[in-house]
Amino acid sequence: MLAKTLNGEIESVETDRKPCGSVLLFLIFTMLFANAAVSQEDPGQKVFETKCYSCHNIGGGNKQGPDLTGLTDRRTREWIEEFTTSPTAMKAKDADAAALFKEFSPEIMPDQSLTPEELDSIINLIKTLSAKKEMFTPSGAKLSRAIRPGDVREGWRYFTGQKRFQNGGVSCSSCHSIDSFGSLGGGTLGPNLTAANIKYRDPELILILQNPNFPTMTEMFRDHKLTDEEIVQVFAYLRNSREVNPHAKSVQTTASGQIEPKFLIAGFVITLLSLFGLNLIWRNRQSGVREDMVRRSKI
Ligand code: HEC
Ligand code: HEC
Repeated sequence: MLAKTLNGEIESVETDRKPCGSVLLFLIFTMLFANAAVSQEDPGQKVFETKCYSCHNIGGGNKQGPDLTGLTDRRTREWIEEFTTSPTAMKAKDADAAALFKEFSPEIMPDQSLTPEELDSIINLIKTLSAKKEMFTPSGAKLSRAIRPGDVREGWRYFTGQKRFQNGGVSCSSCHSIDSFGSLGGGTLGPNLTAANIKYRDPELILILQNPNFPTMTEMFRDHKLTDEEIVQVFAYLRNSREVNPHAKSVQTTASGQIEPKFLIAGFVITLLSLFGLNLIWRNRQSGVREDMVRRSKI
C-alpha cells in the first residue's frame, strides 16, 4: 500500500542489520519530505525567484539587498508597496527607507513593476517562510527525476570514487566521511556528512550538489559540475546514509563490506603532501630564526 502511494521512491536499504526499523524510518521521512516538496509550489515562488532573488534572500542572510525574512513584522503592506514601486522616491520622504539606502550603499534597488497579485504572492511567501523559520530555496533545486531503487548504491560508488564523475569532479570521500564507511572513515577536510540530510532540507542539499557554495568545493567543482543523473544518485545516497545510521557512530560495517584502495592511496598522498608542506613552512621559519641569531651574534 505505502509503496504505491510513494511512487516507487523506496530504496533498497543496504545494511546487515535488521532492516525493518530503518525502512519504517525511511518511509516516514520520505513522506515528510514529499509534503515539504508540495509546500514549495507557492505562487510567489516564481515571481520572487525571477524578480527579487538575485538581490534578496528570505532567511539566508543579506545579499545586495537586505534579507526579507520577517519583513511584514517591520513594515506595513502600504510601505512595502510604495517602496518596491519606487525605492528612490521613498528614500526622499521616509526615514526608514533613507536608513536602508545608507546601509546598503552603493547598491540601489531598481523600481519594480509588480501587479498587486504578484506583490501579494511575494508578501505571502515571505510571511509563510518567516513563520516557519524556513529559508527560500530556488525551485531550480529539484531532482531531474524520481529516485529509483539502485540509486543509493550508484551514489555510494560515486561518493567513494569507485565510479568516476563524468565531468571529472573529485570523489566526495577524498574530503568527506560518512559513518557507514566504518572506522577507516573518509577524508576530513570537509565535515562528516552522515547527518547532512538533517542539517539541510532536500532542496538545500540538492542546491549544494548543483552549485556548492563553500569556497573549497566551489573551486573544486566549478569546471567539473555533477550531471543531473549523478546529482540524483549522490543525493539518494546521502539521504539513505542518514536512514541506515540512526545511531551514527555505533555502526561499524562498511556499506558493502569492501574498502576502496584508490581512496586509501589518495588519503596517503594527501597526508604526505601536507607533511611536505608543513616541513617547508617550518624550514623557512627555522632559517628565519637562525639568520636572526647569526645577525645578532655579529653585533
Ligand atoms: C538589483 C538588486 C535588487 C533587486 C532586483 C530587488 N531589490 Fe529590493 N532592495 C535592494 C537594495 C539594495 C535594498 C536596500 C535599499 C537600497 O539601497 O536601495 C532593497 C530593499 C528592499 C526592501 C526593504 C527591506 C526592509 O528591510 O525594509 C524591500 C521590501 C525590497 N527591497 C523588496 C524587493 C522585492 C519585492 C523585489 C522583487 C520584486 C526586490 N526588492 C528586488 C536591491 C534589490
Ligand atoms: C576538495 C574537498 C572536497 C570535496 C572533493 C567535496 N567537498 Fe563537500 N565540503 C568540503 C568542505 C571543506 C566543506 C565545508 C565548508 C564549510 O563548512 O565552510 C564541504 C561541505 C559540504 C557539505 C555541507 C556540509 C555541512 O555540514 O554543512 C555537503 C553536503 C558537501 N560538502 C557534500 C559534498 C559532496 C556530495 C561531494 C562529492 C560530490 C563533496 N562534498 C566533495 C570539501 C569538499
